[in-house]
Amino acid sequence: MAFPTDETDRLLSTTRSVRRRLDLERDVPEDLILDCIDLAEQAPTGGNQTSRRWLVIRDPKTKGRLADIYREAGGDWIIDNAQRVAGTGHRSERTLDSAAHLARHLQDVPAIVLVTIYGEHDSSGRPGLFDSVIQSAWSFCLALRSRGLGSAWTTLHLGAADRVADLLGLPEGVTQIVLLPVAWTIGDDFRPAPRRPAREITWFDQWGYTTQRPISGPVTLADGPGVTVEVDVKASPADVWPYISDIELPARFSEEFQGAEWISETPGLGATFVGRNHRDDMGDWEVTCHIVGYEENRVFAWNSVDPENPAAQWRFELIDLAGSTRLRFEMVLGPGPSGLTAVIDSMPDREAMIIANRQKGQTENMRLTVDGIRDLVEGRT
Ligand SMILES: Cc1cc2nc3c(=O)[nH]c(=O)nc-3n(C[C@H](O)[C@H](O)[C@H](O)COP(=O)(O)O)c2cc1C
Repeated sequence: MAFPTDETDRLLSTTRSVRRRLDLERDVPEDLILDCIDLAEQAPTGGNQTSRRWLVIRDPKTKGRLADIYREAGGDWIIDNAQRVAGTGHRSERTLDSAAHLARHLQDVPAIVLVTIYGEHDSSGRPGLFDSVIQSAWSFCLALRSRGLGSAWTTLHLGAADRVADLLGLPEGVTQIVLLPVAWTIGDDFRPAPRRPAREITWFDQWGYTTQRPISGPVTLADGPGVTVEVDVKASPADVWPYISDIELPARFSEEFQGAEWISETPGLGATFVGRNHRDDMGDWEVTCHIVGYEENRVFAWNSVDPENPAAQWRFELIDLAGSTRLRFEMVLGPGPSGLTAVIDSMPDREAMIIANRQKGQTENMRLTVDGIRDLVEGRT
């Protein structure tokens, strides 16, 4: 029998990092924690071996020392930063404030659960027994949530893992994975967090290949096929913005795009430019492009030919990773008429192959472009 997905989905989408709303006054029965560990142990494990070990810390003195280590290993830094950004509207203000609250009160949480595994990462790149613990620790968090308890995934202590091992008597060869404060939650009206939709971060059959709509058979232009490439740049979004908003720049890297000139006097939403392209098999062509997304330091997007029924949709996005920037470059083919639709019309039975070829070519040029921008921003060239 299937599960009531409205309930299971609510559990999966609302199991949040709880810190401010951990009830520090109410005791947590040991049996409840052990029930949750029993459930967590149902998670898959390499070789079907039982190598996870759970350490429940309730002794006030030990919790106090552990909390000191947590603060010294990074909690104090969090507390300082939370104070620094308080009231500034900084994007991490709420998270920092909540993380600082936990750092101050870790010793007051009824129980702290340290999840460990026998094994040390061998850096081989192969998954093994060692990798069998995250899925189990998360099941534990879900089991807590379904009983009215909460936790927050914390790893700051790993900066002082040796001291934690000394304090708790961990033997050699045991790896600490996550430290989970456990308490009843104050209220249980937790909400789903904003996350990128699956379609934006899921590729089909080839890395970076996207569709805007579900497909049931060979891909067609009506499905909104596209590609996405990404690269991380060691710079702030403001440092990368001048490069992505320079319409000429991709011509330095792309083997198809030759250059562009603004038609409009000032760039911005609704502005237009003309782009020049060349391919040995298609010759030279020009397209008028319409700016459809213009948010300084974040988005630069344009549709080609007809903004309402574009031949193609292009979008640069800068994602702030606090200390670096993920440069994301997306392209969607169609849905409007273009050179591509003319080719498909002449060979309709080969539509999927024609689209796949176009995706491959665009991926290569877009990859050259984002890598080229990264190299310029980072001063590698
Ligand atoms: C690998 C990892 C390490 C984390 N380490 C800490 C930590 O040491 N301290 C802390 O307060 N939160 C830590 N977090 C929690 C994140 O800050 C948290 O996921 C973020 O606040 C978003 O909240 P949400 O989980 O409710 O979406 C960690 C999360 C992950 C996935």
